[in-house]
Amino acid sequence: MNLIRIEAMKPAHLEQVAVLSVEETQVKFVGTMNEILVIIDNIVHPHVILDGETVVGFFLIDTRYGQCYDFSETDALGLRAFFIDQHHQGKGYGKAAVASLKSFLKSAYPEALQLFLTVNCKNPAARYCYEQGGFTDTGDLYLGGAAGPQHIMQMALKN
Ligand SMILES: CC(C)(COP(=O)(O)OP(=O)(O)OC[C@H]1O[C@@H](n2cnc3c(N)ncnc32)[C@H](O)[C@@H]1OP(=O)(O)O)[C@@H](O)C(=O)NCCC(=O)NCCS
Repeated sequence: MNLIRIEAMKPAHLEQVAVLSVEETQVKFVGTMNEILVIIDNIVHPHVILDGETVVGFFLIDTRYGQCYDFSETDALGLRAFFIDQHHQGKGYGKAAVASLKSFLKSAYPEALQLFLTVNCKNPAARYCYEQGGFTDTGDLYLGGAAGPQHIMQMALKN
């Protein structure tokens, strides 16, 4: 397994983060880096996935996710824009990062009870990574996404 670590994004990461990208066919699942970076504020927090000092992936933690989506518990966190840079995909980083999320979030957001996400029904590789890393499919679909129906998944953070 790859030795990755997760950190809150710092200004020093920006140069590497700015050039992260996914394949053209994957943009519909997460958007472009420019689209993602403008979402960041004091509510939606950026994080990097590191192998050594190399940024190989990225995700957002939305601290008001539960207040925005009816399917989520009110006080739950949301995982958004999770991706591995296209040059680093297929090396186990995605699975390793998802598997590390719980312990990272328990420490970084100790009050949080649950983490929710949606994943497009046409994105089986991401869904597989999430399942392998401890997420459970709620069995419900979110139909509000621009790229079609999405599975709703959740992971408890307290146990
Ligand atoms: C989904 C994503 C995060 C996976 O990261 P990754 O580092 O490439 O994935 P890994 O190398 O850790 O593992 C991929 C696993 O998925 C499996 N996989 C690949 N394609 C698959 C498919 N079509 N269906 C099911 N599983 C698939 C691989 O076999 C591998 O599993 P294994 O190790 O048990 O054999 C990455 O492809 C990505 O960033 N995609 C674009 C953005 C995206 O879709 N993000 C999710 C938004 S909800």
